Amino acid sequence: MEKLPILQFEEKIVETVKKNAVTVLIGETGSGKSTQLSQILFRHGFADSGTICVTQPRRVAAVSVARRVAQEMGVRLGEEVGYAIRFEDRTSTKTRIKYLTDGVLLRESLSDPELSSYSVIILDEAHERSLNMDILMGLVKRLVGIRSSSNFRVLITSATLEGEKVSAFFDGCPVLNVPGKLFPVEVIYTDDVNKNFVEAALKKAIDIHVKEPEGDILIFMTGQEDIERLVQKLEDRVRSLEEGSVMDAVIYPLHGSLPPELQVRVFSPPPKNCRRFIVATNIAETSLTVDGVVYVIDSGYVKQRQYNPQTGMYSLDVVQISRVQANQRAGRAGRTRPGKCYRLYPSVVYNDDFMEAAVPEIQRTSLAGSVLYLKSLDLPGIDILKFDFLDPPSYASLGDALRQLYLIDGIDENGAITSVGRIMAELPLEPSLSRTLIAANENGTLSQALTIAAMLSAETSLLPSFAKGSEKKRKHTPLKLPDGGGLGDHIQLLQIFESWSETKYDIEWCKEYGLQIRGMSFVKDVRGQLCQLLQKMAKCSTDVHGSHKSREKKMGYRNLRKALCVGYANQLAERMMRHNGYRTLGLKSQLVQVHPSSVLQPDEDGMLPNYVVYHELITTSSPFMRNICTVDMQWISPILKKLEKLDINKLSGGFTDSEGGIEGKGQEGLKKEATVEDPAVRDSKINAARERFLARKGKK
Ligand code: CDP
Ligand code: MG
Repeated sequence: MEKLPILQFEEKIVETVKKNAVTVLIGETGSGKSTQLSQILFRHGFADSGTICVTQPRRVAAVSVARRVAQEMGVRLGEEVGYAIRFEDRTSTKTRIKYLTDGVLLRESLSDPELSSYSVIILDEAHERSLNMDILMGLVKRLVGIRSSSNFRVLITSATLEGEKVSAFFDGCPVLNVPGKLFPVEVIYTDDVNKNFVEAALKKAIDIHVKEPEGDILIFMTGQEDIERLVQKLEDRVRSLEEGSVMDAVIYPLHGSLPPELQVRVFSPPPKNCRRFIVATNIAETSLTVDGVVYVIDSGYVKQRQYNPQTGMYSLDVVQISRVQANQRAGRAGRTRPGKCYRLYPSVVYNDDFMEAAVPEIQRTSLAGSVLYLKSLDLPGIDILKFDFLDPPSYASLGDALRQLYLIDGIDENGAITSVGRIMAELPLEPSLSRTLIAANENGTLSQALTIAAMLSAETSLLPSFAKGSEKKRKHTPLKLPDGGGLGDHIQLLQIFESWSETKYDIEWCKEYGLQIRGMSFVKDVRGQLCQLLQKMAKCSTDVHGSHKSREKKMGYRNLRKALCVGYANQLAERMMRHNGYRTLGLKSQLVQVHPSSVLQPDEDGMLPNYVVYHELITTSSPFMRNICTVDMQWISPILKKLEKLDINKLSGGFTDSEGGIEGKGQEGLKKEATVEDPAVRDSKINAARERFLARKGKK
């Protein structure tokens, strides 16, 4: 195999890293950053005094890259080379190179604030700008100062020029450029906008297959759903092509919820004389490199989860990609020889409609978990608003996070972290679920709450889906699942797991009920890990097995639902008298409906319960509450009282001087604060892009 571009720079890299505490490395996707950098440093003794750790924004990437590196070094995965992702740790005392998700590294820094076991930290894929990555950059910047006497080294890699901006953030540290050996890629646009990009992609792919010489086709779709649809259609079409008239073809889906063994399939060498169609999410844009791709088909879209702090509402939107992303996608076609990229949109869309770069996650997600995390670090004089962010989050989203944390007792009215908040920060769960566990621990329902938290943490959907197509494959209709007894989805999830555990976790049982076996086993595993974690923290009664189970059941799960009400204090809703809908109870109330997937449906009289808590608000066709649990009015009143007294001003906390809170400063103040460092850099393209993005959102 040809030498990866990065290896030609081995000496230069080593020399720079020896001389500098922080180095930024910019290199084309596929140049070997993720797999080679750690090995280069390992070869030159950087792992002699500690482990080399490499963060990845995605679980899939952490696992697959670690596996690859172990293979290249000829060691067993989990020994010299290992990985750690949430709920799965495959490392040992032998481990010298460790791949981990950025979330796991953040959590590790809670118990070891100086991350002293690491001699080198590589923050990989900085261009993805995950929320955790942004926070890690701020933390690592501090660490470099604190650990300056040791040989602690930091490397930040990026596939795009944003590396320059990162370098400015790290006080102008050196930037190494590893020129990729990209072959020219011809970009071909369509004349018109394609309304149906699945059909358009199908047509284009078959066209290539029939007319173009060999070479794999990589197709960018937005998510599991359209990927599965396209794969199905491609299979049908390929089969209908006359045998012998075209070469053979195999079709692989590639997305995050695919079982790992199916994900890594694309890395094994393709069968001879066979064209591969790889239908992927933006996971194949920069995180994973599939060799052999000569043709790229780009839908121009990506699925993005966005959070609106004003409404507390999530939406899963299919949005346009940015120009940077489009170019990354095109680049995938020119890795081994000249390639072609078919964009399923006209060039004017690319030039005029696409933003330059994507909105970083920190500006489109709920920050409650991160704010709590930062508060729990006890950094001297920490004020969330003064935290050194590469791109500061908005005033509204910080306010939203503080309010939630206050309502669930994670911080007190002065913004100081509470003892409850500290425990919450240590649990690898969203704040609402960690708070529920703590409340459940106090009222004797921990065992059940653990089950619910684990069920809600499953990465894929567990319950049988009623989508077309999946129906076809199933041989018989699954048996009817427990229905939550009119108390809601959380109770249903609990009942499902408990019924399964009564069968001693029989796989056949899952099959009969149409439940995802892999998902259910994952839940069981997660539940076990959460139990262990809580017991280790010794913050709970050891009654994780639940001796009060039957009593709770008899009582209509009162205590359990009470605990959920505490955890979801920021997620309450009240039924409206006239309409058959709900109004959320908070600073700004929203009108919402019960999600059709909920087990909670109107009773014979057409009535729904008066008060509920919900796991999340999501806008699809209209605003819905998803995963709902009934609660009593009397549990809600104290929360509403708290809400009345709420003073965002104080909650931002950490003010040691008399500057006041964030209220008076508003947006202007925030921006100013953040620009102190380097106005030119701060006022970046990203900010401009974000404004445009928000403007566009507003127009909708
Ligand atoms: O991180 P970067 O995009 O710079 O490249 P990389 O992930 O280190 O990939 C370098 C090479 O290793 C590519 O040619 C990949 O196809 C290959 N690789 C692989 O075969 N299997 C993996 N699991 C990861 C990378
Ligand atoms: Mg990489």
